[in-house]
Amino acid sequence: MPGSGLILGIETSCDETAAAIVERGERTVSSVVASQIATHARYGGVVPELASREHLRAIVPVVRGALAEAHLTLADLDAIAVTCGPGLAGALLVGITYAKALAFANNLPLIAVNHLEGHIHAVLLNEREPQTEMSAPSFPQSVQADSKRVGKHEPRTSASAEPALALVVSGGHTHLYLARLAHGAWTYTLIGRTVDDAAGEAFDKVAKLLGLGYPGGPWIDALAKFGNPHAVPFSFAQIKTKVHLGGKPPRTKAAKTAPIARIDPHFLFSFSGIKTAVLRYVELHGLRAESRARVPCVLANFLPPQSRDEALALCPQPTLDLIASFQYAVVGDLMKKTFAASESLGAARILVTGGVAANRELRQRFTAEAARRGLRIAFPTLALSTDNAAMIAAAAWPRLLARDFAPPSLSADPSLALGR
Ligand code: KG4
Ligand code: ZN
Repeated sequence: MPGSGLILGIETSCDETAAAIVERGERTVSSVVASQIATHARYGGVVPELASREHLRAIVPVVRGALAEAHLTLADLDAIAVTCGPGLAGALLVGITYAKALAFANNLPLIAVNHLEGHIHAVLLNEREPQTEMSAPSFPQSVQADSKRVGKHEPRTSASAEPALALVVSGGHTHLYLARLAHGAWTYTLIGRTVDDAAGEAFDKVAKLLGLGYPGGPWIDALAKFGNPHAVPFSFAQIKTKVHLGGKPPRTKAAKTAPIARIDPHFLFSFSGIKTAVLRYVELHGLRAESRARVPCVLANFLPPQSRDEALALCPQPTLDLIASFQYAVVGDLMKKTFAASESLGAARILVTGGVAANRELRQRFTAEAARRGLRIAFPTLALSTDNAAMIAAAAWPRLLARDFAPPSLSADPSLALGR
């Protein structure tokens, strides 16, 4: 049986270097997130080599920061947990190597955590400590101010209910899982997933082609309310889901993290089509030239706008309508499939988590639909929606109780799947 119940979590799967200390999977003692947004922004996306280099620079101060914030030393800990996949190989390896060294040097057990399971535990952690609100993710100031306000309306559930249907929707993933708790251990069944791009990837790519900043989700979120969501009727019904991929292996990072053969096609997502549809629309209506001329574009070596008001001043109304319509369509598709899966599987509640779960329209519409159906729904706080290490330390707690430790040979698994 653990002594202090304190676990140090380390997360380096993508572009955030994060460390956090969580007690017994239910109380966040400290949490530090060093974002690499400034490094990757000029490229309009994460550059894996730069991500590894930035993790190397940040990992020691970030872990020290988490210990200092908690007024603890390594000797106070019961275990070290680290994300072992899915994610960028080089980025994951920085966290894993450092976690291994710390565990070995301090005679602590090492616990390997799946990043996707971590996102699900972000909601579960919040449920256990409902008053938690850590520092917000590093969005541009004007966007962040708006995003924070949403948190006040976040619905919460206090008691757990199983099975839970979890939608993990981020820059790298769009997956639906049925999560069950049995004898203290969580099990996951894959119910649905994207066959190509993740939803957050679509937000990022659309924002990039319109000349907005990186990551694109917060920009689209901030600008969408100024446009007409019904101006451009994007339809997912016409998008082929490429269910069988002709027997070929999936092409994208998101698609590689889980098999699709056994999944009900109704619960498969596809976001590459809408991204192309937006591009076509922009070309057809001359919005690209106009937006490039009026909104300085990353691709043209200009700086993206620095604030929401600057972007608003530069975006013509048809661009705002396009942004609103895009977001409306993506949220609508996520909702349709999530609620259909929940109904067909008899889920006791819905959990929505991952970076895109920070989206205001998504939270509002999911919440309204859940209320209409009399279903329980929960989201993490905004800080826990995007990548962080508190979710990794929280997910490790049941494994510590079960003494489910990682072998010394633990390595990164960039395509690690979750569940059956
Ligand atoms: O969970 P996360 O930090 O990293 C991954 O595991 O991918 O998610 C990052 C993604 C990015 O694609 C970003 O554009 C998106 O989450 N995102 C949002 C919002 N905030 C972050 N998408 C829509 N609306 C937002 N407010
Ligand atoms: Zn993530």
